[in-house]
Amino acid sequence: MNIPPDAPAAVFTSYGYANIGIPVNNLLPPSDPDLGLGAIEIVDDPLQDGKFKIPTLRNIEFSPPYSHNGKFPTLMDMVNFINDRSDYSPEVESNIDDRIDSIDLDESDINDITSFLKTLTDGY
Ligand code: HEM
Repeated sequence: MNIPPDAPAAVFTSYGYANIGIPVNNLLPPSDPDLGLGAIEIVDDPLQDGKFKIPTLRNIEFSPPYSHNGKFPTLMDMVNFINDRSDYSPEVESNIDDRIDSIDLDESDINDITSFLKTLTDGY
């Protein structure tokens, strides 16, 4: 991961890319799998397939639906997915990041994290 040395931490991103196993959004027209970073011509590396930019969480409250294909309608849906993706099949199976899996949060934790994310809105 290339983090610029002067990158501000307050934007709540590590400036990296990862495949966290986002499933296909069936509300979108069918298409070939979206390889994300791996599909970029100058990258052209299967080890990057399925990786997407780790987005800033600033003002995240106001940008539903969530993930690159809008699979998750609400912030809580997204946090639930991060906690436990066992009910979903990833669109791209390769290169899934092992920092995301079975965090084992309970409902109260999910609520707390969702509330915390809403404090990242400018102006509070
Ligand atoms: C409790 C911990 C975490 C929380 C609360 C969290 C929260 C979120 C949220 C709300 C989004 C949706 C952003 C948007 O649609 O604009 C997101 C996307 C994403 N997160 Fe996290 N995240 C967490 C941990 C991680 C970790 C550890 C990684 C790195 C492995 C990661 C990588 C990503 C990536 C790559 C996306 C974009 C996925 C895509 O669009 O394909 N997240 N995260």
